[in-house]
Amino acid sequence: MRAAEVIRPHAAALADVTWEQKGPADFVSDVDRSAENALRAVIAERHPDAVLIAEEGSPKAVASHLTFVADPLDGTTNFLHGFPWYAVSIAALVDGEQVAGAILNVANGELFTAARGSGARRNGQPIRVSQITDPTRALLGTGFPFKHREGIEPYMRLLPRIMQTAAGLRRAGSAALDLCDVACGRYDAFWELRLAPWDVAAGILIVREAGGVVTDVAGNPAPVAHGPIVAGNPAMHEWLLNELRT
Ligand code: IPD
Ligand code: CA
Ligand code: CA
Repeated sequence: MRAAEVIRPHAAALADVTWEQKGPADFVSDVDRSAENALRAVIAERHPDAVLIAEEGSPKAVASHLTFVADPLDGTTNFLHGFPWYAVSIAALVDGEQVAGAILNVANGELFTAARGSGARRNGQPIRVSQITDPTRALLGTGFPFKHREGIEPYMRLLPRIMQTAAGLRRAGSAALDLCDVACGRYDAFWELRLAPWDVAAGILIVREAGGVVTDVAGNPAPVAHGPIVAGNPAMHEWLLNELRT
């Protein structure tokens, strides 16, 4: 993946990376931008008629038959601090529907892929969501509303009951990788209340192709849009959705 080739050398020289603040706890670095430029160049070369919707500087919504929705670096805060859990995420949409997705964990090389109707894979091997149905045995992932501080209090009100029931709760810092962790059964479910299309476009397809369920908090199939995400194996998704709605 060309974007990952751009990111990798900088991980070894973080002191030289320039970053700036877009909003509270929301940073962008020259590496995010260079990775997105690399991605855009590959798409322009191979699919000149396609549109790229991506986080840093690309158009945010343009109707096109073939659209790529990408996050050139998901987990920027992790990357900037040398915490090795960040990814490149890219999905291909035809007439608004995801047909293929790929998420690469840049630090450890794990590659998650899915094609609609053909299942999901990790490094080429088929993956499935977990089979855990008992929430007291479940390991959950979540994302904090750290960029949208008005969301902190409502989020905190949800936590006690979930934490009192589940076996464990993790906040790893890359929503794209969180969805991959649901797809391969490491997490039994995951939720975050405010995500962007580029965070989730590939991950939604990867979870669904691995046999999982991904919805909004109302239980409707999650669109490639700004909004909440609840994902999990079918049983743990249903349990978590109920917890979030009560
Ligand atoms: C962020 C990560 C994080 C999630 C945030 C996202 P970024 O993306 O996915 O895990 O909690 O909501 O914005 O800014 O690192 O690309
Ligand atoms: Ca992101
Ligand atoms: Ca990003």
